[in-house]
Amino acid sequence: MEPSEQLKKITMAIQELPTLNVVALKVNRLLRSSTAGSGDLAKVIQLDQSITARLLSLVNSAAYGLRRKVSNVQEAVSFLGTNTVSQIVLGLGVLSTFSGKDNPRFSREKLWFHSLAVAVLARKIARVKKCHKQPEDVFTAGLLHDLGKVAVDHFCNESFELVLDELEQNPNQPFHEAEKKVYGLTHNTIGEWVARNWELPRRTIVAIKHHHQPPGSREGFHMSDDTVADLVMLADWIAVTKGLGYSGTKSIEPPTKESLSRLSITLEEAMVIADEAMKEIKEAALVLGIKAD
Ligand SMILES: [Fe+2]
Ligand SMILES: [Fe+2]
Repeated sequence: MEPSEQLKKITMAIQELPTLNVVALKVNRLLRSSTAGSGDLAKVIQLDQSITARLLSLVNSAAYGLRRKVSNVQEAVSFLGTNTVSQIVLGLGVLSTFSGKDNPRFSREKLWFHSLAVAVLARKIARVKKCHKQPEDVFTAGLLHDLGKVAVDHFCNESFELVLDELEQNPNQPFHEAEKKVYGLTHNTIGEWVARNWELPRRTIVAIKHHHQPPGSREGFHMSDDTVADLVMLADWIAVTKGLGYSGTKSIEPPTKESLSRLSITLEEAMVIADEAMKEIKEAALVLGIKAD
């Protein structure tokens, strides 16, 4: 089948997109509303027991450095602020929307571990190098950067399997190159469609859309220039190089010099920060119930 035929199939299939998990949907609306208060946010989150439990475990982990344990959502919001809590819940909600289906050739669990590693690494670099003003937005963007892969596997498994075949024959090519051969576009574009449809935050869309593009070729909307794309690109390269989870390929281009200079970092320096983040990654995986390998 020609790539254009595959593309047609994907476009049709993706129209069946499920609605975003209801809590994530409501939190996403609150994030965009200027009048919503912290009480509204806590009320919405409490609607979902499983998200509430995972949120509390996560904010009580060492990564957030709280001096005492928080025992309810309201406390989490007052200690960490509405944006941090909303970003975490949004990420958890999107994960749960796609849960329950696995592909024996492409482990969903390993992909989520890869995504979590990218999220924690990108946030850690943002914090240590102070190169992004919203490290928590960077976390969510990292968690969801490969959303397009899950979407194609979920809606158009037949096309996805062809990409896996292509990668089996030539394992040293990046995932997005194999996708271009099979359906003429990449998980970046497909992920962007999904994210726009769900009206996810702009920064998350930027990371999804541009994490395989050097800064000079990122064309899009006004936030395409945000360093979130560079952070996710760098964290993605580290996660693949260190074999943290699996994102479908063993080969990925390192970020360009320009990308690294936007973050004021070298690859060596980033690797040192990554070593320091290993414990944090494993702890986050444990509390979210994602098996680390
Ligand atoms: Fe990717
Ligand atoms: Fe990735």
